[in-house]
Amino acid sequence: METNEKILEVENLHVSFHTYAGEVKAVRGVDFELKRGETLAFVGESGCGKSVTAKSIMRLLKPPVAEIKPESRIICNGRDVMKMTGKELYAFRGDEISMIFQDPMTSLNPTMKVGKQIMESLMLHRNMNKKEAREEAVRMLKMVNIPGAEKRVDNYPHEMSGGMRQRVMIAMALACNPKILIADEPTTALDVTIQAQIMDLMRELKEKMNTAIILVTHDLGVVANFADRIQVMYAGQILERGTAKEIFYESRHPYTWALLSSVPKKGNESKEELYALKGTPPDLILPLNECPFASRCEYCMGICKEQNPMETSITDTHKVSCWLMHPKAPKVKSFYDREGR
Ligand SMILES: Nc1ncnc2c1ncn2[C@@H]1O[C@H](COP(=O)(O)OP(=O)(O)OP(=O)(O)O)[C@@H](O)[C@H]1O
Ligand code: SF4
Ligand SMILES: [Mg+2]
Repeated sequence: METNEKILEVENLHVSFHTYAGEVKAVRGVDFELKRGETLAFVGESGCGKSVTAKSIMRLLKPPVAEIKPESRIICNGRDVMKMTGKELYAFRGDEISMIFQDPMTSLNPTMKVGKQIMESLMLHRNMNKKEAREEAVRMLKMVNIPGAEKRVDNYPHEMSGGMRQRVMIAMALACNPKILIADEPTTALDVTIQAQIMDLMRELKEKMNTAIILVTHDLGVVANFADRIQVMYAGQILERGTAKEIFYESRHPYTWALLSSVPKKGNESKEELYALKGTPPDLILPLNECPFASRCEYCMGICKEQNPMETSITDTHKVSCWLMHPKAPKVKSFYDREGR
């Protein structure tokens, strides 16, 4: 159940990596908010800044190579995440917000039984004693539909299948009942059937626990029927944002159209016919004074190469950064006109 209470506000987020080749400006002025119980998806091609944005919210990127620029604001439940000390951050991750990754082995300790790993988190964050924590760990494993949870609690990660480990990671992330769960490509490494099961599980848990979710994915197909709102990212910026309905059925940005073209139509799951976007995203080290999509956009106009477009509001929720939104821009045939969707 979604309410109007904002639990996360991110404003003017800028994140850079200081590398030998120069400063990689990976996230360039990203703004968004998340309400209690809401599901927001970050969608875009590889390298567009989805994970860096997600990790920045939890301050998981390591300085001095990674730098969240001081003008960035990250407010979670009224608290300024940028100002948190190491100790405060430690409590914040788990109590308020937690993250699941594409590869469970990055979060699970291979030398420790899965139950013990969940128990540690419960004893630390929820002050449970050993017996209570074990009972709760079994309950959590049952909640994520692990059969024979009473026995599985004593398994090591390598004794479980990939799908099973992903469930354990979800159980671990939810153990402390965080208000926000960030799921970064949670199903990419899994086969299609297991993918669907994990998405069903996340949907069920979100309803049961009213956890707000940020779902990070390169695949728009995964977010259909899951996200309330979607933000489409490219070269460290948000190019279009809106409700799921606005992004799927009323999108106005050529980059979103390109992503939509690669979602197979119902009844036509053949991969050969998928639209492949030509060209590559811009180099994030070089200055970018034009629309970041200009070099790949078939609608590119003179102005697009001179100035990055401002965001235009179509509705309260639907916003687009593209010169085609300018009242004097030519009317073009949209994705929907062309594909007959
Ligand atoms: N440690 C790092 N050092 C230098 N550059 C980095 C580092 N981590 C990320 N980047 C750069 O930041 C940009 C954004 O990366 P990010 O991981 O957020 O992409 P993503 O959208 O999550 O892509 P993917 O779908 O591949 O996970 C990329 O261009 C990447 O090269
Ligand atoms: S601003 Fe221009 S180049 Fe950028 S997406 Fe719009 S039409 Fe294409
Ligand atoms: Mg990523």
